[in-house]
Amino acid sequence: MQIAVVYVSNTGVTETVVDKLKKATKKTLSVYNVKNEDPEMRLSDVVIIAAPVYIGRTHKLMRKWVKKHQDVLKRKHLIFVLVGGEETVNPLDTLKNSYPEAILKKHHSVYHCGGEFRFERMGFFRRFLIKLVIKSKQKESGSDALPTLNQSSINALTKAIDAL
Ligand SMILES: Cc1cc2nc3c(=O)[nH]c(=O)nc-3n(C[C@H](O)[C@H](O)[C@H](O)COP(=O)(O)O)c2cc1C
Repeated sequence: MQIAVVYVSNTGVTETVVDKLKKATKKTLSVYNVKNEDPEMRLSDVVIIAAPVYIGRTHKLMRKWVKKHQDVLKRKHLIFVLVGGEETVNPLDTLKNSYPEAILKKHHSVYHCGGEFRFERMGFFRRFLIKLVIKSKQKESGSDALPTLNQSSINALTKAIDAL
């Protein structure tokens, strides 16, 4: 059984999730970053598509890669991994906003693995803007908590990969 993990990451959070999976699973994962390569999935049985969410949709490079390879992907067992600060948004809505209908037709599993804001890896303008948005949300909710990775979701995903 060939298992591929295709991912993209801006500030390294999705990459951390992929590294955790690689370390935790008993299976061998072939990992590809769509920022550096355009992997073919013909020989893979399972494709794990891991991407961060930006403004309600997955990362642009992942949307582009999925669209380009949809004819091959629609015949595969797919597992979607979302990484983002807002776990309350329905992950199926995020998928529908991001990927072609053809590949979402079959029942595929989705794991939301939480997210983090790594300010030190953002440019000045983005950091400034995000801090403003966070402050207003914290005021609204009355909580200072920042998003974190969801380890129980990562554990559940590891278990699912081990069971393949
Ligand atoms: C400009 C911007 C927009 C974002 N929009 C969303 C969003 O719509 N939904 C969400 O859940 N998280 C959102 N986030 C949070 C990121 O998804 C989160 O920081 C994620 O961990 C980044 O992962 P990466 O380092 O792999 O790119 C946003 C972050 C930034 C900087």
